[in-house]
Amino acid sequence: MSSALETERPLFIVFEGIDGAGTTTQAQAACAWLEESTQNPVFLTREPSQGPIGALLHQALRRRIEFDPRVMSLLFAADRLDHLFEEIQQHLKDGVAVICDRYYLSSLAYQMVDAPQDLEWLDQLNAKAISPDLTILLDVPADVAMDRICRGRLNLDLYENLDRQKLVRDNYLHLAEHRRRPDERIEVVDGHRAQEQVLSDICELIASV
Ligand code: TMP
Repeated sequence: MSSALETERPLFIVFEGIDGAGTTTQAQAACAWLEESTQNPVFLTREPSQGPIGALLHQALRRRIEFDPRVMSLLFAADRLDHLFEEIQQHLKDGVAVICDRYYLSSLAYQMVDAPQDLEWLDQLNAKAISPDLTILLDVPADVAMDRICRGRLNLDLYENLDRQKLVRDNYLHLAEHRRRPDERIEVVDGHRAQEQVLSDICELIASV
């Protein structure tokens, strides 16, 4: 069986992890590697998106405005579908691979902290978000991630505190193990290593899709 790198099928790859896990750094590095390997452009994007609903979320995350946690869940899910319909699916349709820094697993892992009993509802809200070909979950202990975030930063975003980060990490690991969709592939990668080592594992995983 040939790898998706050798076929025309554009890949949809997602990076997930707690704040400070390195999703942004590794998504950028993986994007450069994939472009080089395939000699084709890759669309690198992130959630919350740069769209109108994403803009509201960015303000809420910076504490410029405040929403009830249930409203945040709805906004994250709405931003996701807007991003999917307006950008991600367009690129995939044009044959361009997409790498997305955060996607629906973030909604489950983060928003379920506020209301674990709402997991089914969160799943429903995200049911129209297509499954990626591969989700890479960068796993880093919460205290290590918080140290990374606090280095050189004065203000912390809404969810950037140690207690919450611990709960989000537990949620991610639980979801990856017990709640993955039937058509979903989630790989947990140890993110508490040198950047090049982490990237090497990631490239191997992408090449195996
Ligand atoms: P980031 O842009 O630095 O990754 O920050 C986005 C923050 O928003 C981060 O704390 C994770 C959080 N988030 C959610 O709580 N739910 C979601 O669905 C998404 C996409 C992000």
